Amino acid sequence: MRFANQVAIVTGALGGIGSAIVQALAAEGASVGLIDLDARSGAEREAALQAAGHRAKYANANVSSFDECKAAYDTISAALGGADILVNNVGISPKTQGKALRVWEMPPKEWETVVSVNLNSVFYMTHLAAPHMMDKRQGRVINMSSVAGKAYCDIVAAHYAATKAGLIGLTRHWAAELGEYDITVNALAPGRISTPLLKTVPQEINDAVTRVTALGRLGTPQEVADACLFLASAQAAFVTGQVLDVAGGWLMT
Ligand SMILES: NC(=O)c1ccc[n+]([C@@H]2O[C@H](COP(=O)([O-])OP(=O)(O)OC[C@H]3O[C@@H](n4cnc5c(N)ncnc54)[C@H](O)[C@@H]3O)[C@@H](O)[C@H]2O)c1
Repeated sequence: MRFANQVAIVTGALGGIGSAIVQALAAEGASVGLIDLDARSGAEREAALQAAGHRAKYANANVSSFDECKAAYDTISAALGGADILVNNVGISPKTQGKALRVWEMPPKEWETVVSVNLNSVFYMTHLAAPHMMDKRQGRVINMSSVAGKAYCDIVAAHYAATKAGLIGLTRHWAAELGEYDITVNALAPGRISTPLLKTVPQEINDAVTRVTALGRLGTPQEVADACLFLASAQAAFVTGQVLDVAGGWLMT
């Protein structure tokens, strides 16, 4: 029970990777706060976690809105307490007919939506959670980047690459700002992970990635969750400002 008496908040908590992270944190004793967009599935997930003996609270929010992030953070803090662990997991990667749009094709609205969800939300949530962590003089912030934020990756669009690279900048900057409070800030950079997000691209693209991945397969949400638990744990107390690839050796930099 590495996270007994700790509260962990996860955004994008109903998705492939988010669900695995929530389950893994709860299994190790954390009280889990879930934020996502689907109130009905969220309520069912909260009930299932509680029925399994976990402390859990779901809050619905479109994380591209600061006000909605604040309302969700306040709902979860009132039920469970402030966040000791914040996993900024939410992310979208829009495609058009399975293809990443190029600069001259991309509607500015799509660019703005991706920046809001993938990048602005991470600022909003960390801004909300940091004061509690600073008061306790401990905390963990884990940002879900991607190998596409570190290397050119032709299967995502520029908005996705830019926001995932932006998260790496935020990770280093906040690691420096928050270090004196014993708060660590790290990023995960998954490669190709088998989740619903992958269904937005044709199977041949996943097959092509597999061929150039050292371990010759896609990753699983559980493997990302395992790395997340390490960064959230006491075992990673001296690790901060880092990006941990969970990519099976795809796009090694
Ligand atoms: N799956 C991969 O191969 C892969 C690779 C690298 C990085 N990632 C990153 O991992 C994270 C999780 O990805 P996933 O594969 O589990 O995706 P997913 O699509 O399964 O889950 C994303 C979740 O975020 C929620 N969400 C989307 N927009 C939202 C919004 N505006 N407000 C609140 N919630 C919103 C969705 O409802 C969904 O539950 C993302 O940041 C993604 O970029 C995934």
